[in-house]
Amino acid sequence: MTDNRQSPIEISTADFKIIGHQLVDAIADFIATITEKRVTTGETPKQIQTVLGNASLPGNGTSVSELFSKASDLLLHHSLLNGHPKFFGYITSSPAPIGALADLLAAAVNPNVGANILSPMATAIEKQTIKWLSEFIGVSPKYGGILVSGGNMANLTGFLAARTAKAPKSLKEDGLINTPGEMIFYCSKATHTWIEKAAVLFGHGLKAIRWIPVDAENKLNTEILAQTINDDVNNGKKPFLVIGNAGDVSTGVVDHLSDIAAICKAYDLWFHIDGAYGIPAAAIPQYKNRFDGIQEADSIALDPHKWLYAPLEAGCTLVKDPQHLIDTYSAHPVYYNFDNSADEPTLNYYEYGFQNSRGFRALKVWMALQQVGKNGYIKMISEDIELSQFLFEEAKKHAELEAVTQNLSIATLRYIPDNCLQGEKMNEAYLNTLNEKLLNELQQGGEVFLSNAVVSGKYCLRACIVNFRTSKKDIREVIEIIVRKGRKVHEILKRE
Ligand SMILES: Cc1ncc(COP(=O)(O)O)c(C=O)c1O
Repeated sequence: MTDNRQSPIEISTADFKIIGHQLVDAIADFIATITEKRVTTGETPKQIQTVLGNASLPGNGTSVSELFSKASDLLLHHSLLNGHPKFFGYITSSPAPIGALADLLAAAVNPNVGANILSPMATAIEKQTIKWLSEFIGVSPKYGGILVSGGNMANLTGFLAARTAKAPKSLKEDGLINTPGEMIFYCSKATHTWIEKAAVLFGHGLKAIRWIPVDAENKLNTEILAQTINDDVNNGKKPFLVIGNAGDVSTGVVDHLSDIAAICKAYDLWFHIDGAYGIPAAAIPQYKNRFDGIQEADSIALDPHKWLYAPLEAGCTLVKDPQHLIDTYSAHPVYYNFDNSADEPTLNYYEYGFQNSRGFRALKVWMALQQVGKNGYIKMISEDIELSQFLFEEAKKHAELEAVTQNLSIATLRYIPDNCLQGEKMNEAYLNTLNEKLLNELQQGGEVFLSNAVVSGKYCLRACIVNFRTSKKDIREVIEIIVRKGRKVHEILKRE
């Protein structure tokens, strides 16, 4: 090696500027024309594999410029575009363009936001982001928390904090198996699958979940909840946690949060809210009441990569008393020298969650919050809700559509052939098959992207609008596309 080391991975300043500018130009054009593109090319995994090729790992390097040209072509022309105004699938938002630029800046500086000493400014920015998120949804800014990869991790992070807070102190040493009394937790049937993951991965087993039935509004039935907890206590079990949904994954229902909070208080249980999708709507004055009780939550999951339009990945766990996170996650290996701050106690995020080395997820969230402010977010979220209600109303008016549910920005509906309404009784099984096939057709077709929900046995098309690009015109066109494709699928099925 010479005194001046030449590393093949370095890019010269001149090249970095040229290639960087070209990349930014390509991305700007991609965003500018996204509306004219298809939501997806509908290519099969085999076709995608053919486009990508099957080369072996190269022995020698390739020019960076060539690589970006190839990678841009692959990604910009062969991806599903969740930034498209007619993308309403699952709960993935259109990414805010500022997030793409923020991620570039974050990666360039590359702070390790596990420890304050490794990321002094980034740690302070994450702390401010957490405070702003608390303020935004209307809980005390004293909540602490951490940014994580998404909703699963945000909920799992809260789950373990709950267990530490409510289990006997000996749990860490003895493990669940030697801890007397089976630890039990409660949630509605509509809860996302993260709860099953928690039960299995953290050693409780699926039997520790009490699936509480829902009431007529599809909200967790709080009378049955209280009764079930009571029965468990009388049977020597150890209830420790209740989960309330603030926008369930399937149809967007918000549970009776303040009633759940009161039950948790009465039985000394941890109250966790899964607001991964819906809790940003608590910032909207007209919807605030629906979220009464969030101020009582011991922990809250909230995903900026859902309704705050951050590019993946950005989830967040907020905890009323962040000491519970430290009690759960902190460890002090001898090679750490992270607690020598002169002023206030050092905030080291490795003590707040699963990760030690952590990326700078906060930057994109922090920047978007400032780009549009609280009012900008209120406008976008309110408009998403309005568009979802519009879709529902348009479906209601249409002779070949059944509007099934509408909550927050999620509407469910299904296609029902015209002759069904003219007296020819279609059985539910046929309608379910028809709508399932229709969904597949729509997802492959590239004009719109929806997902599905099963509501009271009905297989429904589900549109979740967390998309600041969608307009009323898109909604009208989507109605037309669903009906046109619905007729086609029905014709094919009839002949089979
Ligand atoms: C209510 C709710 N909780 C948790 C999750 C899981 O989030 P993620 O996919 O980001 O892990 C989702 C995903 O849609 C959700 O809607």
